[in-house]
Amino acid sequence: MIWIIANWKSHKSVAEALDWIGLVGPHIPTNENLKVVVCPPFTDLAEVKTKILTSGFKMMVGSQDLSPFPEGAYTGEEAASILKDVVELAILGHSERRKNFNETDEMIAAKVSEAREYNILPLVCVQSGDTPVPEGVRLVAYEPVFAIGTGNADDPAEAEDVAKKLKGRCGQELEVLYGGSVNSENAQAFLKQENLSGLLIGTASLEADEFIKILEVVSG
Ligand code: PGA
Repeated sequence: MIWIIANWKSHKSVAEALDWIGLVGPHIPTNENLKVVVCPPFTDLAEVKTKILTSGFKMMVGSQDLSPFPEGAYTGEEAASILKDVVELAILGHSERRKNFNETDEMIAAKVSEAREYNILPLVCVQSGDTPVPEGVRLVAYEPVFAIGTGNADDPAEAEDVAKKLKGRCGQELEVLYGGSVNSENAQAFLKQENLSGLLIGTASLEADEFIKILEVVSG
C-alpha cells in the first residue's frame, strides 16, 4: 500500500478547500494500492467530505488532531465520536503540536485510544526511530523536525534506516511514511525505499498543481 497524505495545517478557507478538491480529484490514479488522504482544518471537513462523496473521487478525509477525551465538557475539543462521521484517519502527535501545544507522549497515547475506539485510523508522527509509538498503532510518519517546512528534506537512505528501526521495534506490519519538505522532485527517491510506504506532505500539498505532479510521480 502507498499512502499519499496532504497535511494542510492551518490553511485554506472552505471555498479554497473545495477548489482544491475539484482540481485534484479527477487526477487521482485508480491504482488499487494507492490511498490518497486530505487532512484539512476542522472547519473544512464536512464540506470537503460531501464534495468528495458527491463527485465520486477516490480520496479519504483525515483530521490533523483529535481530542484525548471522550465527548463531553471539553471546550474547544473535537471528540473522536463526532469526528468519525467525517474522517477515516487522524494525524496525531505532529511535532508542531508537541512544540506549540506541549503535547506529551501520554496525551498522544490517549488520542490514539480515542481514535481506535471509533475506528479512526491513527497516523502517529514520530521524530526519530526512538519516539514512543502507542500500542496498536499500525501507521506512523517519520518526520524529522529539521526537515519540516525548511526545504531541507532528510536523506532517503536515512529515512529508510529509521523505518527499519521502527519496524524492528513495533513489528514488520507497521507502515512507515516519510514527511518533511517532500515535493514532486524528491518524492520518488523516498517512494523507492523498501521500507517506506508513502509520504506526508505539508507545503507541497497546498498548491493543487504541485500535488497533482506528486500523484503523477506515484503512478509512474
Ligand atoms: P512540509 O510539512 O512538507 O511543509 O515539510 C510536512 C508536515 O509537517 O507534515
